[in-house]
Amino acid sequence: MIILIFIVSGLIILILSLAFTGSQTPFVDTPGAPAVGNVGEDVRLGCRFRPSGPGAEPADAVSVTWERAGLSGVVFRYRNRAAQLQDQNPRFRDRAQIFPGLLPSGNASLLLRRVELRDAGLYRCSVSAPSGRGTVSVRLRVAAYSPLSFTLKEQNLTAEAQRWYPKPSVSWSDHEGRPLNASRRFFNNSAGIFRVVTTLLDLVRYDDTYTCLISNDLVTSVSPATVTERGVTARTYFTFNLSPPLMPLHLVFIAPLHLGAYYLLT
Ligand SMILES: *[C@@H]1O[C@H](CO)[C@@H](O)[C@H](O)[C@H]1NC(C)=O
Ligand SMILES: *[C@@H]1O[C@H](CO)[C@@H](O)[C@H](O)[C@H]1NC(C)=O
Ligand SMILES: *[C@@H]1O[C@H](CO)[C@@H](O)[C@H](O)[C@H]1NC(C)=O
Ligand SMILES: *[C@@H]1O[C@H](CO)[C@@H](O)[C@H](O)[C@H]1NC(C)=O
Repeated sequence: MIILIFIVSGLIILILSLAFTGSQTPFVDTPGAPAVGNVGEDVRLGCRFRPSGPGAEPADAVSVTWERAGLSGVVFRYRNRAAQLQDQNPRFRDRAQIFPGLLPSGNASLLLRRVELRDAGLYRCSVSAPSGRGTVSVRLRVAAYSPLSFTLKEQNLTAEAQRWYPKPSVSWSDHEGRPLNASRRFFNNSAGIFRVVTTLLDLVRYDDTYTCLISNDLVTSVSPATVTERGVTARTYFTFNLSPPLMPLHLVFIAPLHLGAYYLLT
């Protein structure tokens, strides 16, 4: 009898904890690291929601609205199986879309084309479906970054990057990581984007590797360049500097079938 009570109470605790963790998962969230857009290129803002089980819910019952804090109108709206763009902010005309074919799998990500500096900001993805509704905030940061190209004149090594924003810092190191002196010049175009030209002050040795590092608050590029008498071979690797994580704000209404009640999770 006592053993039975233990088993039954253990089962109840298990069921309760499963139900509890289940209702803790927000209906809508944003996967992965915050997005960093590169001026002129496309960027994707992640938004996913919990789809109901297979066959439980027709995809055309899902509506998705993307908005940007501080701007009137919507960035993009999808409802009744079509884009609803009557109140789209003109800034996003022909530049925003979602992927309707991915809605049944819970993917409501936004594709924003030809990113501009002024696109940076806080976006909101709101999803409404028969299985629930919710909103998540997604931060878009915008930078400009481009790979380095190297030129060798006699033994002077120069590196040039066409587009950087915000204004970056530039440093060089030798194959052992020791810092090297270099000149740096920044040319600012009409859009405020910088072209960077930097030349090592010491003459380089052939068959040696020199690394140029360019970085700002958002992006770091590392470009090792190997110098031979025939020329320079180089590659550029980009990494994105993760800012302190944005406090996610979830306002979620869920109607779990097993409880038949509404929950407000924050
Ligand atoms: C959502 O779809 C986009 C476009 O196909 C894809 O790049 C992205 O990885 C998907 N996100 C998730 C969470 O599945
Ligand atoms: C190489 O650099 C030195 C010193 O910075 C300079 O005097 C010389 O003219 C440069 N040579 C070329 C070909 O640019
Ligand atoms: C290079 O930097 C070192 C310190 O790191 C300095 O002592 C030296 O004067 C610099 N040389 C030139 C040519 O600027
Ligand atoms: C870059 O150029 C823009 C427009 O010409 C100007 O408004 C801005 O002040 C410049 N910025 C810097 C850091 O020189």
